[in-house]
Amino acid sequence: MASHHFLLLAVLLAMACSLAMASDHSPLQDFCVADPNSPVLLNGLACKDPKLVEANDFFFSGLHLAGNTSNAVGSKVTPVTATQLPGLNTLGIAMARVDYAPWGINPPHTHPRASETLTVLEGSLYVGFVTSNPENRLISKVLHKGDVFVFPQGLVHFQKNTGYGNAVAIAALSSQNPGVITIANAVFGSKPDIASDVLAKAFQADNDVIARLQSQF
Ligand SMILES: *[C@@H]1O[C@H](CO)[C@@H](O)[C@H](O)[C@H]1NC(C)=O
Repeated sequence: MASHHFLLLAVLLAMACSLAMASDHSPLQDFCVADPNSPVLLNGLACKDPKLVEANDFFFSGLHLAGNTSNAVGSKVTPVTATQLPGLNTLGIAMARVDYAPWGINPPHTHPRASETLTVLEGSLYVGFVTSNPENRLISKVLHKGDVFVFPQGLVHFQKNTGYGNAVAIAALSSQNPGVITIANAVFGSKPDIASDVLAKAFQADNDVIARLQSQF
C-alpha cells in the first residue's frame, strides 16, 4: 500500500474511533464539582476549589416526588444533571425521573449528547425510537414495571403511558448535560419561526396546516 493510502486509512480510522466515542470526555482528576458562579467559559463547567468541596456537592434530593403532569402532553421530566447536582460535572452521567399521567406522552425528542436507559418503576409504557435515514425504522415495545429499554444516542424517541394509572420511570443518561431537542418545539416553535414555506415543503403540507402547528408551540 502506498504510504499516502496508509495515511488516509489511519485518518479514517481515527475519525471512526472519535465518532464511536461521541459521549462526554473522561475525567482528568477525581472530581470537578461545578462552580456555577465562575465567569470562566469552557466545555463543561469550571471546578470549585477541591478543598471547599462538601458532601452536599455530590447530593440531590427530590426524586421521590412526582412531577406535575397537568400540561398539554401529560408528562413531566425532573432532571438531575450537572446543573442540579454539581458533582456530576465531568463525570459523563446524569439521570431523570419521568412522570406520566394516564395516556400521557413524553413527546418525540432526542438527546444530542447521550444514550439513555429507561427503567419503568410503575405502570406500563409504549416506547420507541426511530433509526436514521434512509431506513427510519421504528423500534418499539410495551414496557412494564421493572423493564429497561435503551434509546441510542441522538435518535428520536418517545414514551406513552398505556395505562389508566400514573406511570413512573427513571432515565439514566451518558452525559452530565444530555441536552433535549423536542422535535415539535424545535420545528414548529422556534423563535423566530422557520419560514412557513420551508416547513410546508418539508412536511408536504399546506401553509395553513403549518401555520396552525406553529401557533400551538
Ligand atoms: C400543576 O400544574 C398546573 C398547571 O400549571 C397548576 O395549575 C397546578 O396548580 C399544579 N399543581 C400542583 C400540585 O402544583
